[in-house]
Amino acid sequence: MSAKIISGTEIASQIREEIKSETERLNRDYGISPGLLTIIVGNNPASVSYVTAKQKTAKELGFYSVQEDLPEDTSEETLLSVIDRYNRDPKIHGILVQLPLPKQINENKVLYAIDPDKDVDGFHPVNVGRLMIGEGRYYPCTPYGIQQMLIRSGVEIDGAEVVVVGRSNIVGKPISMMLVQKAKGANATVTMCHTGTKNLSSHTKRADILIVAAGRPKAITADMVKEGAVVIDVGVNRIGMTPEGKAKLCGDVDFDAVKEKASAITPVPGGVGPMTITMLMLNTLKAAKFAHNIT
Ligand code: GUN
Repeated sequence: MSAKIISGTEIASQIREEIKSETERLNRDYGISPGLLTIIVGNNPASVSYVTAKQKTAKELGFYSVQEDLPEDTSEETLLSVIDRYNRDPKIHGILVQLPLPKQINENKVLYAIDPDKDVDGFHPVNVGRLMIGEGRYYPCTPYGIQQMLIRSGVEIDGAEVVVVGRSNIVGKPISMMLVQKAKGANATVTMCHTGTKNLSSHTKRADILIVAAGRPKAITADMVKEGAVVIDVGVNRIGMTPEGKAKLCGDVDFDAVKEKASAITPVPGGVGPMTITMLMLNTLKAAKFAHNIT
């Protein structure tokens, strides 16, 4: 039997409708537009395409949006001063610095400089700490999107065996921490696997929900998946160009083979990707409401 395809495109579009109507309410009742600043340093093609998509979505939702394009050789000091300026700008509620940053800039120093109240990426240690103790305010966008996809597809998370492949600060660690919390849409038994894991498939084969953020095409093959598992593929691997000149993408999961074994699976593209951007918008909306004490 072939798996149900979990469409991130469709779920993201539902959530965007919810954000849009809430944004209209803020505008109408309080004269506020959620304000998002995106900063990009240099012109890494993947980063440019992500930031362009974030700005486009922000505008479509009626947000106030500002983009700072800084040259590749920008100093750390200059970037910190730009962040400081927007930390104090009341029209900006969310600040996102696209990663990775050029070598001369210390990434952590930059992330720590963002006001935690405006940290819509959820990368500041204050927000990471809040998540850890079950008091999360801004969840990192990709993990937040994954959790919403599971919830909105009716996947039972409570008590499930979740196996996460990958331990990055952006995906693996935060999704593990979110799903292990004693909370709704969580309360799972979570195993985190990584490059130091011995016998990866002995873990993945136990998963009711398998979340793959390994950064390697076909890292997960059908023999590594339990019959009926739910498989979330976070991989975005560029494997050439389409005839229209767009990047051709594949995930970390051998989709064609695994879909014959799983009960549900996310495609690439059209899976986790559209969710990530949408959750950034939801975090920005949250930040605007927080800044103005609106419930
Ligand atoms: N680079 C890759 N993913 C992300 C993300 O979620 N946020 C930021 N700021 N940079 C990224």
